Amino acid sequence: MSGFDFSKRDSFGSRMGVIMAAAGSAVGLGNIWRFPYILGENGGGAFLIIYLVIIFAIGIPVMMSELVIGRRTQRNPVGAFRMLSSRRPWFLVGMMGIVAAFMILAFYTAVAGWTLEYIYQILAGGIQGKSSAELTVMFDSFRSESLRPALWFSIFLLATAGIVLGGVRKGIEKSTKVLMPLLFILLVLMCIKSLTLPGAGRGVEFLFRPDFSKITGTTVLMALGQAFFSLSIGMGTLITYGSYIPADNKLASTAVQVSMVDLFIAVLAGLAIFPAVFAFGISPASGEALTFIVLPGIFQQVSGGMIFAFAFFFLLAIAALTSTISVMEVIVAYFSEQLNMSRRTAIIIATASMFILGISASLSWGVMRDVKLFNLNIFDLFNFTTANILLPLGGLLIVAFLGWFFPGHAVRDELSNGGTLRVRYYSLYRFIIRFIAPVAIALVFLNGLGLLRF
Ligand code: PHE
Repeated sequence: MSGFDFSKRDSFGSRMGVIMAAAGSAVGLGNIWRFPYILGENGGGAFLIIYLVIIFAIGIPVMMSELVIGRRTQRNPVGAFRMLSSRRPWFLVGMMGIVAAFMILAFYTAVAGWTLEYIYQILAGGIQGKSSAELTVMFDSFRSESLRPALWFSIFLLATAGIVLGGVRKGIEKSTKVLMPLLFILLVLMCIKSLTLPGAGRGVEFLFRPDFSKITGTTVLMALGQAFFSLSIGMGTLITYGSYIPADNKLASTAVQVSMVDLFIAVLAGLAIFPAVFAFGISPASGEALTFIVLPGIFQQVSGGMIFAFAFFFLLAIAALTSTISVMEVIVAYFSEQLNMSRRTAIIIATASMFILGISASLSWGVMRDVKLFNLNIFDLFNFTTANILLPLGGLLIVAFLGWFFPGHAVRDELSNGGTLRVRYYSLYRFIIRFIAPVAIALVFLNGLGLLRF
């Protein structure tokens, strides 16, 4: 067994701190960068409806389950499964989460680095007055360079490591409390601007009017993957954060509140982006470049736009940071608790290995552009495999474990804080984690990957 002293574990200070930290993990580039471009590539309104159904029917129950496992065991994902099932290999679910954490951190920090490049460009006057076409060229040429994406990636990684080194309460909780409300306000302002551009109506229609003929098995899988990615579920982030949550926190309402905030920010991002996409005549299926072309375009239309642009990209970088620290925390909690390293050593090892993985991901359009597997570059490979395979599979195993291999009264006990809360939703929750969620994930999965057609 490890020699880690579990009585010295850190924890979140307040109820608000818990929500802010979990929402800080959930809200990030997934909402503002990934959601719009995935929705844009997968049919718009119909995707949104499928996404909503998945958040409610699968996302929230999976999130509750992770929090239950985390708080019950007070352990990192691997330690948690070892504790709950010492004789069966369920800890492999935790291991899969650690692998996913490495892959996510690699490509996610690369994108976070792009936000730093934009902050720099805004300050250097490199964005002012550029048309959408010029912004597209700018994005593509930046991304295909070798030095800059790797440099910004490295700076962002070091910032993440620095905050994680500060510890859970001091580092993570504090940094999420203040800036997120500001990001929200700016996003609302951008929606207003975007919605009043000439031709904006077509964007609103694209986002809200479903065209189900565009939906295929792959689309549903993409919506499932996006939901897991955006809620930070399926890889043990919320097992880890759950392990720092005080005993009197209402786990179910935390899960609902965090999911609603996350969903709301994603829809707001959609409302800021798609009206402008159509107003500027850009294709909604522009892929990873979408957010980075459209948002600077909106700021061109406002007086004093570069100040807003600076504030926005700065806050986006902070939102990304509260997500990267939650991913790194998973790795660090695992290293320090299971492998008995000090937090400092754990962070150094995690960061050093991340350099190799992440620089490869950030150079996927530069010198590493020809390195491909299944026709995907390293960045896309990490992006696709984590969101669409590892996270849903992790989620499936997490709910199946709690639903079928763990005593129901213990789950109920954890959700009701030892019987002190009423848990009227419990039978619905249990039905979902035993039947609906596992079956739905399995079907979407097999169908989306082409292993089963219906
Ligand atoms: N949910 C984060 C976002 O949407 C990304 C993330 C994924 C964070 C998985 C932690 C774990 O930006």
